[in-house]
Amino acid sequence: MSHTERLPRVRTYLMCPPKHFTVEYAINPWMDTTVPVDAALAVKQWDLLRTTLVDLGHTVHLLDPVAGLPDMVYAANGAFSVDGRVYGARFRHPQRAAEADAHRAFYEKTLGQDNWHLVRPEHVNEGEGDFAYLPRAYGGLILAGHGFRTEPAAHAEAQEVLGRPVVSLRLVDPAFYHLDTALAALDDHNVTYYPEAFSPSSQRVLRQLFPEAVIADRADAEAFGLNLVSDGRHVILNTEATAMADKVRAAGYAPVHVELTELKRGGGSVKCAVAELRP
Ligand code: ARG
Repeated sequence: MSHTERLPRVRTYLMCPPKHFTVEYAINPWMDTTVPVDAALAVKQWDLLRTTLVDLGHTVHLLDPVAGLPDMVYAANGAFSVDGRVYGARFRHPQRAAEADAHRAFYEKTLGQDNWHLVRPEHVNEGEGDFAYLPRAYGGLILAGHGFRTEPAAHAEAQEVLGRPVVSLRLVDPAFYHLDTALAALDDHNVTYYPEAFSPSSQRVLRQLFPEAVIADRADAEAFGLNLVSDGRHVILNTEATAMADKVRAAGYAPVHVELTELKRGGGSVKCAVAELRP
């Protein structure tokens, strides 16, 4: 495919300032409660991510941070929207449960006037942490992860709510506990992923669906290089993920680095901090 075809599409995102961000519990292997977080640096790094998206022409809505919810900065986990329909989250761990209400309130109050249709979930699912959408793959395809957080039953529920086919993928490595730590949409039809984060059968499914995928390795995934946000041309990713930047550049995309050392201490990076709102 010619590199001149990598055109950006203007997006609308939702982010939550890391005002109350700390690592005070450990619910994934990256979290170490004995290592302090530099709170001021976390805010500074997060703000650079926000301005990077704004400078690229995208709209960034803000969610009010709530004291006592230190993981709220990972705004991707609060819901998953497709075609103006919003499938709400239901968190696996009690420490994060109340975040779902904050997201719901955002959709109801801020976006309520714009005909967004919000659906409360029955099954455990962590929003865009475990769901990705490719509007131009097979007419509109949802990829969904399970194995650590989101329940397979939520995949079927999401398909009913959103009316798009959902392909279930099983995650097998606890270091890559959310789909968005192991796979990302590079544009409307193609993905990048780290195969070994998935079961052999799920790897086969991904190979079948995405023969042109950009294949990442363990080092890329460990640098949170797959936890990226792309507008179809600009691929925003963690500074540490240098080899991943080379791979997306070789595939014709334009990598943009942002330093997110503090958010990594909670087990997340660019994508975790950015939810996409799809009207
Ligand atoms: N500490 C958070 C958790 O374990 C990190 C969430 C990262 N978010 C993501 N979309 N992968 O739930």
